Amino acid sequence: MTTASGISQVAVDRFVAAERERFLSRNPKSVALAERARHSLYGGVPMHWMADWSTPVPLFVERAKGARFFDVDGHEYIDFCLGDTGTMFGHSPDPVARALAEQANNGLTTMLPGEDAVVCGELLAQRFGLPYWQVTATATDSNRYVLRWARAITQRKTLLVFDGCYHGTVDDVMVRERDGKTVHRSGLVGQAYDLTEHSRAIPFNDVAALEAALAQGDVCALLCEPAMTNIGMVLPDPGFMQKCRELTRKYGSLLIIDETHTISTDIGGCTRLWNLDPDFFVVGKPIAGGVPCGIFGCSAAMADAMTQARHRASAESHGHGHSGMGTTLSANALAMHCMRANLEQVMTQAAYDHMLPLAARLAEGFRQLIDKHDLKWSVTELGARCEFQFCATPPRTGAEAEAAFHDELQMALHLYLINRGILITPFHNMTLCCPSTTTEDVDKLITTLDQALGELLAIPGARL
Ligand SMILES: Cc1ncc(COP(=O)(O)O)c(C=O)c1O
Repeated sequence: MTTASGISQVAVDRFVAAERERFLSRNPKSVALAERARHSLYGGVPMHWMADWSTPVPLFVERAKGARFFDVDGHEYIDFCLGDTGTMFGHSPDPVARALAEQANNGLTTMLPGEDAVVCGELLAQRFGLPYWQVTATATDSNRYVLRWARAITQRKTLLVFDGCYHGTVDDVMVRERDGKTVHRSGLVGQAYDLTEHSRAIPFNDVAALEAALAQGDVCALLCEPAMTNIGMVLPDPGFMQKCRELTRKYGSLLIIDETHTISTDIGGCTRLWNLDPDFFVVGKPIAGGVPCGIFGCSAAMADAMTQARHRASAESHGHGHSGMGTTLSANALAMHCMRANLEQVMTQAAYDHMLPLAARLAEGFRQLIDKHDLKWSVTELGARCEFQFCATPPRTGAEAEAAFHDELQMALHLYLINRGILITPFHNMTLCCPSTTTEDVDKLITTLDQALGELLAIPGARL
């Protein structure tokens, strides 16, 4: 069988079998907890995807701090996954831990704002340049609500996204582009209605497709990451994001930038770095230091348009309607207090000054390994995150990134790393550095991956 990675499946199977054995004998307490969990948790985990890692049973965590966590069997790990960005500034940063303790006895949720909310609004406006803010429970919710606002404001229904995108579990984004057509993302469970009716997917970095999609005149908004990060990393061509801004304006559509992952690029995200000027801006995961919280900001023009849209909806419902946006625990006192501490003391320029050079070192290390082992792979790098991909040149579209997947190889390498105390992001090969990551941590990942590749490639017939 041929694979984009150039590595034979037979060799991967042999390599991974030994690693699975090693994991099971090294982690008896995780194995025992997995067995116990099977009887009370569906699939043996509190959320079904937690069983989708490379390990034969879930790795159970005892505690985490900074760039490290410890499993229940007492092993220490360097964490380059960092809760897939949820804990991008390290596990339990001291100021956030203090904020949690301060708020713990002062009320967790009241459905009313406090001074923290005002301070957070001011800090967000200063940092991201957009004047008005809303606070939600997750980035998924932020995207869902922004989409509702965009449809209400423009009075258009179609959402435009890029093929290979992920913006949380918002139904409307669960589409893909195949041969110029929008189709459902495969694997959706319980999909009752046709998502392609009001969503359109086009390839990333394709200006002609973008203009053609917008020119139909029915697009409420383009929802996008400034660089794709969920199908492997895909960087925008120079000027592509500026084209997104220019063309959405030209055709009366809004631009929503979701920086939930790319906030790792700069303290103001790619939006500030590349001067992207969106109508709406979304961040979640790390904004309150790992405590569930999402935010979205908007321009003054959008805030006015939102008010008009509310008036219209209110008039239609004779003042008794529901906006369709909410969730009771959104903007609760605990999240607001933690977000304030995070913005003031954790998510600082100094944090980024530490993280960015480490990620650059890691990317350079990956490149050297690829050369050393004579592999036709590539490295994509953006801010504090980087990724090695099983294709000779960095992908320009979601489809190219997907074509480079070799899931079994990726899982085999991840498991090898886990067995030696290193965690990287599952489902692809992305790594993230946090303010507690050290040069030694980065070098350990490189030398361990070097060892893994050496062992894998030594298996007869490993190279195709
Ligand atoms: C770009 C992007 N937006 C939104 C989300 C959703 O975040 P959450 O699962 O915290 O709601 C994710 C999650 O990975 C994401 O990568």
